[in-house]
Parts: sequence; structure tokens; C-alpha cells
Amino acid sequence: MSWIKKLVRRIVGGGSCCLDTGATCCPQTDPGEVIKEAVKKNYAELITTAGTGCCGSTGTIEQLAGYTDEQLEGLPDGVRETTFACGNPVAFAEMKEGEVVLDIGSGAGLDALLATKKVGPNGKVIGLDMTPEMIEAARANARRTGVENVEFRRGDAEQMPVEDDSCDWIISNCVINLAPNKRKVFGEAYRVLRPGGKLMVSDIVTHGLPAEIRQDMAAWAGCIGGAPEEQEYLETIRAAGFRQVEIAEKLTYDEDTIRGMSGECCSPEGASDVALALAERAPQLAGRVSSVRISAVKPSREE
Ligand SMILES: C[S@@+](CC[C@H](N)C(=O)[O-])C[C@H]1O[C@@H](n2cnc3c(N)ncnc32)[C@H](O)[C@@H]1O
Repeated sequence: MSWIKKLVRRIVGGGSCCLDTGATCCPQTDPGEVIKEAVKKNYAELITTAGTGCCGSTGTIEQLAGYTDEQLEGLPDGVRETTFACGNPVAFAEMKEGEVVLDIGSGAGLDALLATKKVGPNGKVIGLDMTPEMIEAARANARRTGVENVEFRRGDAEQMPVEDDSCDWIISNCVINLAPNKRKVFGEAYRVLRPGGKLMVSDIVTHGLPAEIRQDMAAWAGCIGGAPEEQEYLETIRAAGFRQVEIAEKLTYDEDTIRGMSGECCSPEGASDVALALAERAPQLAGRVSSVRISAVKPSREE
């Protein structure tokens, strides 16, 4: 049995799954859908209870992800605090005025808002997210920022509500590790990018992650359990048809960073189950989890 099936069996075990995950009846449900429901529930809770991680020697989440003060300058109070990023793909994407950008798993919208500055009023940014509470938070952040060239759509990265060949850039920040079917996500990314369009993805990859962590839904929702091994991640992107697939940046997390990521040290009394589970596993996870920034290109029609 694959680990994904084992994970779902653990979620659905004892018939309590529907209560735990919010999924509509589990044994018959597609395993991928069970995982997506649990992920959705986690991010709905995180965004509605406000205050993302901060802390320790690792600094705030936005510092760890690599956002600069210059990038964040001018944003209304509270916008930067709604990020759940593990990198800063917008800073490295050489977007031009007038281009169309899709942010897969846009969360509360920070990257999409930053991208609007790069593409200007004649360009457009589409933020896509499956969690309704995230879409609501992103729309509120866009209103407060006064940005108009952005649209947030609710939808699944494995089946994107986006037209073929319609985007110049795809960005994504700490999302694809959460998708049960990564092949479908990169297949969809390839479909919606125009020929010659570019991908700039920040995400988590692993190095020999223990099987019991892969079978732990809290670790999956915390962006670690579902993160593929590094080579597997690159192969999945190549298999979708992308070329020039390269890791441009890599940061391997130590124990302190993993604790910081979980947010548990900021407010132990208010920490979510996911944060507590990750903090508990920090010694086991140290050195086995990296944030990477990956760039790739969809070949042009002539190639
Ligand atoms: C770790 S958060 C990152 C959010 C945002 N990119 C950021 O940097 O703050 C992951 C986000 O991905 C979304 N997500 C996870 N799986 C998804 C899927 N299959 N389709 C669309 N959105 C998804 C979640 O709802 C959540 O908002």
C-alpha cells in the first residue's frame, strides 16, 4: 500500500474521519480529496485565527522567507502578517509591465499584491486558492492596499479555472507540496502558461523523510509530510514538459528553524495541533527539509 493510502487510512480510521477532516464520508472518498479537505480546514483555521508564525533566532515568517523591507514597504498594517510563505518567488521573477501572472495557492495574497507592482496597471495578476477563507482574506488585503489589477479565484491547483496558454508567469509559494497529485498541478501549470512562459516556484522538498512523518496529516498540513524528495520534485516538473528546470536557491532547515516555522514558540498556549506536532518532531526533521526556489520554462512554439 502506498504511503498516501496509509495516510488516508489513518485519517479515516475508526470512522471518525468525517468529523476530523470535514470530508464528506471517507471510506468511499477519493484519497486525494480527503487530504485536500484536511489541508483546507487547516488553512481556514490559520487565517481566521490570525497571527502567523514568528520567533526565535529565525525571525518572522516573512524574514525567513526572504522578503525585503523595500518590497514590503507601503503595505497596510496586517498584510505581511498573513503570509505563510517559505520563499520569495516574486523578487526573482523578471516580470515585465503588462504581463499576466498566476499565483498558485495565493493564500491571503501577499505575493499576488507584490506582483501587481511589477506588471503595472496594464498587467494582471490572478491569485488561485482552494480555501474560501483565504480568498476572502486576499480580497480584503487587495481592497486595503488599493490594488485593482488583481483577481482572486477559488479553485483547485489540480484543475485550474484558468484558460490555456493565457499566462506569462506562474509563481507559487509553499503550496504544491500540499497537493496530493503534483503531476496534475504541473500539468495544469504547463497548460495555462503561454509557450515561452516561465515558472518560479518556492516550495519545500525533503531528503530521506521518515515514513511515519509521511503518514502524519499534521506534518502534511504543515508543508512537510507531502513534500517530495528533491529529485522527484524536479522530475515531476520535467515530466510535465518544462525545460531549464533548475534549483536557483536552497535553504535547509535546522531544528530551530523548524520550531520557528511551526509558530509554537511564539504562543504555545494558542498554537494549533499542526504547530505542536511539527515542533515536537523538529529534532527528527532537522536537515531533512529544505526550502527551494525552482525556475523552469515552457518551451516556445519553435522549440
Ligand atoms: C502554506 S499556504 C501558502 C499561501 C501563500 N502562497 C503564501 O505564501 O502565504 C498554502 C496555501 O495553498 C492553498 N492550497 C493548498 N492546496 C491547494 C490546491 N490543491 N489548490 C489550490 N490551493 C491550494 C491553501 O489553501 C493555502 O492558502
